[in-house]
Amino acid sequence: MKGKKLKDKKILVVFYSRNGNTRKVGHEIARILNGDVCEIYSGNYNGILGYIKAGYQAVKNKKPLIKFDKNSDDYNLIILGTPNWGSKMASPVRTFVYGREFKKIGYFCLQRGRGGEKLLDELDNLCGKSEAKMIINERDIRDGSYIKKINEFCWKIRGKR
Ligand SMILES: Cc1cc2nc3c(=O)[nH]c(=O)nc-3n(C[C@H](O)[C@H](O)[C@H](O)COP(=O)(O)O)c2cc1C
Repeated sequence: MKGKKLKDKKILVVFYSRNGNTRKVGHEIARILNGDVCEIYSGNYNGILGYIKAGYQAVKNKKPLIKFDKNSDDYNLIILGTPNWGSKMASPVRTFVYGREFKKIGYFCLQRGRGGEKLLDELDNLCGKSEAKMIINERDIRDGSYIKKINEFCWKIRGKR
């Protein structure tokens, strides 16, 4: 019954990823929940200059130009993923959420190891209280424990359907 209900719900997993970690987790969540994927693209954040630009934009709440190819209004539930940039969401994700209304939303963030709670609290304030939240550290990816975290996150989302 729950499975059928979940199928009836349209889920969109939206994320920005600079180095691939958030992308990897986003695709896994979409696979488990049978959702669509929407990757956000933005300017060049490569190399050391890109790192500095990313940090500056995140801390200053900048909203750079972005591209993406799905309409979030077509979906009942959005799952939003971002890397942690200085305890803030990645600036392309900030552009995405600003001025947008979400019926239901869940968040996940990828990080080296600290600051993600603050970032997810800000998302809760900006976009509405989430159905589920998850922080994945790079160490969780290295030792494989991220799979368990993702499954728990997806179970939580399923439980709310
Ligand atoms: C500008 C910048 C700032 C960052 N700040 C933090 C931080 O405050 N805490 C942390 O744990 N990781 C931080 N990181 C590391 C990323 O969150 C981490 O490498 C993440 O896995 C990257 O995700 P991605 O591969 O999807 O881009 C930062 C990375 C960048 C580029």
